[in-house]
Amino acid sequence: MAKNTKPLTSTEEWRTLEAHYRKIGGAHLRKLFAEDAKRGERMAVSALGIYFDYSKHRVTDETIRLLVKLAEAAGVRAAAEAMFRGEKINITEGRAVLHTALRAPKGSSILVDGENVVPRVHAVLDRMSDFARKVRDGSWVGHTGKPIRNIVNIGIGGSDLGPVMAYEALRHYSHRGLNFRFVSNIDGADFAEAVQDLNPKETLFIVASKTFTTLETMTNARTARDWALKVLKDPAAVAKHFVAVSTNAGEVSRFGIDTANMFGFWDWVGGRYSMFSAIGLSTMIAIGPDNFQAMLAGAREMDEHFLKAPFERNLPVLMGLLGLWYNNFFGAQTIAVLPYAQPLKRFPAYLQQLTMESNGKRVTVDGTAIDYQTGPVYWGEPGTNGQHSFYQLIHQGTKLIPCDFIVFSKDPNRLAVHHDLLVANVFAQAEALAFGKAEQELRREGVEDRLVPHKTFAGNRPSTTMLMDELTPSALGKLVALYEHSVFTQGAIWRVNPFDQWGVELGKVLAGRIGPELESETEPELAHDSSTNALIRRYRKNK
Ligand code: F6P
Repeated sequence: MAKNTKPLTSTEEWRTLEAHYRKIGGAHLRKLFAEDAKRGERMAVSALGIYFDYSKHRVTDETIRLLVKLAEAAGVRAAAEAMFRGEKINITEGRAVLHTALRAPKGSSILVDGENVVPRVHAVLDRMSDFARKVRDGSWVGHTGKPIRNIVNIGIGGSDLGPVMAYEALRHYSHRGLNFRFVSNIDGADFAEAVQDLNPKETLFIVASKTFTTLETMTNARTARDWALKVLKDPAAVAKHFVAVSTNAGEVSRFGIDTANMFGFWDWVGGRYSMFSAIGLSTMIAIGPDNFQAMLAGAREMDEHFLKAPFERNLPVLMGLLGLWYNNFFGAQTIAVLPYAQPLKRFPAYLQQLTMESNGKRVTVDGTAIDYQTGPVYWGEPGTNGQHSFYQLIHQGTKLIPCDFIVFSKDPNRLAVHHDLLVANVFAQAEALAFGKAEQELRREGVEDRLVPHKTFAGNRPSTTMLMDELTPSALGKLVALYEHSVFTQGAIWRVNPFDQWGVELGKVLAGRIGPELESETEPELAHDSSTNALIRRYRKNK
């Protein structure tokens, strides 16, 4: 990547955008649409089956041109090529960043430290497929000879959020004879509730952890082993009821899982970018190897699009730039992700880790403190539920919240009445946010004077509508890769490293210190601040 000599906010491209913001930042979408009858069709990109309508954003053609120039000047294209080539762009961890290699076609070549990693990726995919088929057709049996009926994925962060999101999203494609559960939290309630109606003889645990040292996952895995062995008695049963997904073979065998039952991945796959690796084993068991391949192919299409498409028609780049426009020029603090698809109910939670663990950074790659805003807060819920909850604030509150609406033309359940109403609602929300309802209109309708201010919708609230055909495995692959690369685009412009996560470490270290203080039989000597000390004492007294 080209070395940046000037601070980001002093570059010509940034300054020009600031001036442009001063000029058009206040323009109302009503006016922008009134001035250009074709705006709604023109400001939309159709690619890979995604109709990406960004016309309801507070932008002009000039805005897009200037944002694209910013991305070009930031070297987004060269940075992406370096990532795809396997360069060690995660410099604080000295690692390549190659989640894209997870969906690279057989026969291609991507070198890390002189070794082509693609054959290794496909070797693991083949082993996963073989195993998934056996579980799905009942030929993988438990210790007592009973087929497996329950799959429990134990993992947290990237080893949970991707798998649970994908399972929910693609439930329509899942093997209906198998139950899937996901345990992540250290809170024992998570494990206890997940297994309370399960028979250990029919249950398979997938212990998913890149490091195989994560406190939550290892605690849950040990509890799972005790729970299973209480019924199965024989420690040899572990081999039939536990498999591991990890990069750490040593810890896997120390736990007692035969490494023959381990599915590996590599340090160049970040946790939050790992759902297409062996971390997706539960997904593959649920939807089958062919559908898993279709999901990979969808992501691969988006990878190619990201690498090749001109920036003004490049979906991840556009998405990243629009987010940056509000974040850095309008001062927006959050982005709402609002899928009008109940199966995507865990998508916002998945995106929170992807976006916020990646770009929630306060220094640049070279360690310089940053004096501009980096990653915004992502949040959301599926529509229409959110409409009856927090949309009030988006419509009439004092905060500007750009929204990502995601919706599909086809409903696999073929409940047409529901689907038309669902889609009517998402189109209506985007329309209402953009155009609002003016005072004059209310008065024309004879609304009482005192109620007019309350019933007015100022509008000018931006949104993207992504209309896709159907929520298939391929569509999910595209959607995930779309957000992955938009995060990358923003990270490259903000000059941060989106691939480390040092911010999660301090809490882990402190919890490691406090844990024994809570457990100790004798009164511990406490050396925390007075608030933490008091909380510890109170907990010890009441527990
Ligand atoms: O919380 C930090 C984190 O390292 C995430 O980045 C990661 O996805 C999660 O913990 C789980 O880590 P592991 O897969 O090693 O258990």
